[in-house]
Amino acid sequence: MSDIVYLNGQFLPLEEARVPVLDRGFIFGDGVYEVIPVYSRRPFRLREHLNRLQQSLTGLRLDNPYTLNEWEALITDLIARNRLHDQSVYLQVTRGAAPRDQAFPKHAIPTIFLMCMELVTPPAEQVAHGAAAISANDIRWDRCDLKVISLLPNVLLRQVSADAGAAETIMFRDGILTEGSASNIFAVEHGVILTPPKDNHVLPGITYDVVLELAAANGIAVELGYFEEARIRRADELWCTSSTKEILAIVELDGQAIGNGKPGPIYRRMYQYYQAYKNEVMRHG
Ligand code: PDD
Repeated sequence: MSDIVYLNGQFLPLEEARVPVLDRGFIFGDGVYEVIPVYSRRPFRLREHLNRLQQSLTGLRLDNPYTLNEWEALITDLIARNRLHDQSVYLQVTRGAAPRDQAFPKHAIPTIFLMCMELVTPPAEQVAHGAAAISANDIRWDRCDLKVISLLPNVLLRQVSADAGAAETIMFRDGILTEGSASNIFAVEHGVILTPPKDNHVLPGITYDVVLELAAANGIAVELGYFEEARIRRADELWCTSSTKEILAIVELDGQAIGNGKPGPIYRRMYQYYQAYKNEVMRHG
């Protein structure tokens, strides 16, 4: 956990950070968030995360409290105040405290909270052997493109796989692949990467974009589309991606092996490309 967090203009120890109980984040889940990975104290794809933050704020009709430069300075400052080299910065903006009423308050001041957590990427053993996942119906709303803090469906869906000792829940909406409870999903069929397009049923993942860029740069074909559950179950490979999971092979879905039950060749290539890209960016910015 953070030693020092940021709350509404102040840096302070986590134990001292307090928000009013009438905060609309607490009462309604009325807010947005980002999770930004930090490697060797350098935030990865920060601009892209801040651009997505802007899209989420716009979706909730919230003004952005800071400029891009102010966000960058704030995040840099927070990273410096914390001990860990590899961190994940959690950032949240809510519509602030106001008497409980669904309609927007006229004069609420947004609550801005940032903390650093330890960046826990999949252990080497999981990278080598892959992980299990469980499938579930996507019961979320129609604005999954917004990174909102009201995550109850994701929490309930994730618990289904957690109860089974699996790493992720993979969701299908009306039998079509959408995403994971906290990750984007990719499949591989005959050497071609399959993934849903960025629409209102999936989060526009920052890692998702990196994977598509690396595929293009390395001549791996990609097909964006709406893929039926049966096709996904028959795929040669399955992966999930996120800022904290990076790229993780899913080798078992609902107890059934995906492909030969081992991380596949395209996964291993993509994992190497991702690590190399990350190291390059961290060295040269
Ligand atoms: N989750 N889809 C969902 C529903 C997510 O919650 C996330 C990330 C992603 C991947 O996005 P990105 O590559 O930008 O991390 C896709 C974060 C890590 C979380 O809620 O902890």
